[in-house]
Parts: sequence; C-alpha cells; structure tokens
Amino acid sequence: MQIILVGYMGSGKSYVGNLLAEVINYPFIDLDSYIEKREGYSISEIFQKKGELYFRKKETAYLKEILSEKSNLILATGGGTPCYGANNDLINSKGASTIYLKTTIEELVERLFSEKSKRPLIEHLTTKALLEDFIRKHLFERSFYYNQSQRVITTDNKSREQIVEE
Ligand code: S3P
Repeated sequence: MQIILVGYMGSGKSYVGNLLAEVINYPFIDLDSYIEKREGYSISEIFQKKGELYFRKKETAYLKEILSEKSNLILATGGGTPCYGANNDLINSKGASTIYLKTTIEELVERLFSEKSKRPLIEHLTTKALLEDFIRKHLFERSFYYNQSQRVITTDNKSREQIVEE
C-alpha cells in the first residue's frame, strides 16, 4: 500500500511519516529530500538558481516516478505538491491512502517562524504578523486540494506517537 501524507509546510509530514514508516516497517520517502538528492541542490538553491516553475516541473516528475516504482511506501509530499497540475489526481487516484495532516494557523506560525530560512516561499516574511497573514491566505487556497484526501488528522496538541497511532 502507498500512504501519502499531504499538508501545509510545517504540518509534520516528514516528522510523522518517518515514525509511521518505522512502526509499520515500510520504506519512507520524503519528496523534498528525494528532489534534493536527484538534483544535487537544496530546495532553496533550486528556487534561487532555476526558479519555482522549474521546481514544480521536477516535483511532478519525481512524484510520478516514485508512485509508479514503489509498491509499499510512505510518502511525505511538499506543502505545494497536491496544488499543481494534475498532481492531486495522481495522489488520490492510484489506490493510495491519502492523509491530510491538518494544523491550525496559530500553530503553523509558531513552527514555521524559526524554520523560514529553509523555505523559499516564506523566508522573506520578517515578522510573525506577516507570516500569519501569508499563511491564512495561502492555506485558504490550498485547503481545497488538501481536503480531497481520504482522511484528515488534526495535529495540534498531539504527540507524534498519537498521530501515528491514528
Ligand atoms: C513548498 C513546501 C516545501 C517545499 C518547497 C515548496 C510549498 O515542503 O516543497 O519549499 O509550496 O508549500 P514542506 O512542506 O516540506 O516544507
């Protein structure tokens, strides 16, 4: 079975996916890490050197590659993965189990403010108020895609173990 985790930046897709893979003994793939390895650059470098459009093309190509090659796996997608082109149809149409890790805006602001530098889309937002404003609008647009997942698991005030258990 393929289990695909989607959700906004900072929702814990990689953090939860790693432990879930260990618990059920499945291979784990983090799409961002996969892209970085294959491209030989960090996500920030790819955005800087080649631009977001290039990143989105690669993201789609590697998503297709992973889902067509691996049978059993846990895949942590990037926050934007389900929101571009036909990616969400692919994610939700191949008999995979899709889970949206849903986190409140307040919690995302707290988690992301200290980790902005790794994330090209938000690194320019210098205050928590600006970050919150950005996330509010962005999440509103993206929720349409995230909500097409088969399951929604809220993550606020839950340990990683609790989320994996669910
Ligand atoms: C992005 C999320 C990032 C990464 C890239 C773009 C997005 O992944 O793919 O910076 O569009 O939300 P995480 O969700 O793992 O931060």
